[in-house]
Amino acid sequence: MQTPWEHRFAQRTQRMGSSAIRELLKLTEQPDIISFAGGMPAPEVFPVDEFREACDRVLREQGSKALQYGATEGHLPLREQIVRHTARYGIEVTPENLLLTSGSQQALDLLGKILINPGDRILVESPTYLGALQAWAAYGAEYVTVPMDEHGMVTEALENALRSGPKFIYVLPNFQNPTGVTLSLERRQKLLELADRYGVPIVEDDPYGQLRYEGEHLPSVVHLDGQYRDSCETCYRGNVIYLSTFSKIMAPGIRLAWVIAPPEVIRKLVQAKQGADLHTSTFNQLVAYEVSRGGFLDRHIKKIRDVYGERRDVMLAAMDGYFPPGVEWTHPEGGLFLWATLPENLNSAEVLKVAIQQKVAFVPGAPFFPQGGGHNTMRINFSMASPEKIREGISRLGRVIYEMTGESIAI
Ligand SMILES: Cc1ncc(COP(=O)(O)O)c(C=O)c1O
Repeated sequence: MQTPWEHRFAQRTQRMGSSAIRELLKLTEQPDIISFAGGMPAPEVFPVDEFREACDRVLREQGSKALQYGATEGHLPLREQIVRHTARYGIEVTPENLLLTSGSQQALDLLGKILINPGDRILVESPTYLGALQAWAAYGAEYVTVPMDEHGMVTEALENALRSGPKFIYVLPNFQNPTGVTLSLERRQKLLELADRYGVPIVEDDPYGQLRYEGEHLPSVVHLDGQYRDSCETCYRGNVIYLSTFSKIMAPGIRLAWVIAPPEVIRKLVQAKQGADLHTSTFNQLVAYEVSRGGFLDRHIKKIRDVYGERRDVMLAAMDGYFPPGVEWTHPEGGLFLWATLPENLNSAEVLKVAIQQKVAFVPGAPFFPQGGGHNTMRINFSMASPEKIREGISRLGRVIYEMTGESIAI
């Protein structure tokens, strides 16, 4: 029966459904389940002591500022610190190019708010980040997709997709969520060149770029774009909007992230953010600034890389040992996820139901494909569980897949 509220919901809410998979994933929150489902950092790497000390210092030295309303753009010293941090990765910008947001998820939503009219096409990788699809559904986005392979978005298919006139391109070049795959340097250049030729801007979402466990850092798309521009400009005025976050390198609970964009885009985002939440928590910004000062963030990122790098290796080795022939998976050079493809006749949502009975969970891949497909794919997180739990969980999952493929278990 409809409640009196339901016929009052705005039309845009009709596209906001919560998926069947979300309901299944609620079951994975039982304490005895080994879950490879979430995208969460490992709680044991959270810098709890540093946060405690920083909170104390902020309240002692700047208490009334920390508890007051602040500027929508964000705390200037933190923005300047991010400018210095990103300059080391070759991204030359000024604070005018920078807006602090309440997580990158808010940045995605604000971009939807300022860029997407109902029916606008957004060009995305297939599969892509589910949170972006959810954020933009409310604005009436339609999607044009470009397939992925082990080198990221297949740029050979990009030109055709660009001919359909997308509003912007959404790309996750480093250790993509969900596949863990990295866009090669040649393809980054090709992407920029084609985007420029067709006059289509790029939104580059990069929460994981600093979490690399092997291989060389690749220049971000915004960095490569900046190189094309006038080298005397310090303010970035190019074709790319770049997002990154403190969630995976510090703590997601503080909800703190940043957008780099040309100043006119930042100004429009500021207006949109004023309507959403006035500004990101002043207290959290001041604390994050204190925590990350004096080289702590670099030391902390190194620690995270060591912990997650080991977990990735343990997971890859366990999959080699426990998964049946016919299952394939990616070899991520960083990030939090890998992506497995089961034989065609298996449906990963069905596999999940059996896996949950065996107390292990992952995310079925189909929802990451905006135009359908991917029924036999799965996203597997390796950052959250301990190495022992990873071995045990992958062995359970291997047994489930063996049973469902009808293969006999390798001894
Ligand atoms: C690709 C991508 N973008 C954005 C986000 C949201 O990050 P935040 O915690 O900063 O909102 C995530 C989180 O997992 C992500 O994987």
